[in-house]
Amino acid sequence: MLPELANSGYMYAAPDALAPFSEPGDGSGPFLSALRVLAAETGGVILTGFSESAPNGLYNSAAAVGAAGILTVYRKTHLFFEEQDLFLPGDTGFSIFEHAGASIGVMICFDWYFPESARTLALRGAQVIAHPSNLVLPHCQTAMVTRCLENRVFAITTNRYGTETLGDKRLTFTGASQLMSPLGERLLQAPVDSDCVLLAEIDPTLADNKRPTTRNDLLADRRPEHYA
Ligand code: ACM
Repeated sequence: MLPELANSGYMYAAPDALAPFSEPGDGSGPFLSALRVLAAETGGVILTGFSESAPNGLYNSAAAVGAAGILTVYRKTHLFFEEQDLFLPGDTGFSIFEHAGASIGVMICFDWYFPESARTLALRGAQVIAHPSNLVLPHCQTAMVTRCLENRVFAITTNRYGTETLGDKRLTFTGASQLMSPLGERLLQAPVDSDCVLLAEIDPTLADNKRPTTRNDLLADRRPEHYA
């Protein structure tokens, strides 16, 4: 997994400035093509954020890239702050793909602030949430403990670090990429300020147990008739 907008960086004054660093979601551009070659060499799937060019504009998207091509493209649902000046609101809904026997759902960065994102993915059967990010607000890495506990899913947040400037604007990204377990345990965490590659072996079926007690099931016990 790579972070959000890994082909472009984050800060642009206008869509026209970002467009040259964007490419289609069908995998025909240079960035996703290169990842496809890597995926073929390793037999893996690479999940990355990227700036997606579409006929109607740009999307802040994530693609899962395998040897055979693109497995899914997710377009960010909840656009953060000035992203609203660059990107169209995502229109794909939250998507799931299968790899190596695991169901993997995708959300991007600020989607974490809306518990509906992770809950929707869990209700659709995601065992692992892939969460490419360029986080600038505090609290996400801590809040993901709760997202994982309340949905009993794994979550991988791959986050950028460092500072980007545009004119007199300045954003610092919080690093600390992490892997969380369905019990809210932090299994891996990167430093806040340096490059890092982290590896772990997980059993995605641990996410199938939604029972905090023998008499409760976190998805089946929901009372949506009281949530409107
Ligand atoms: C963010 O959604 N990139 C903060």
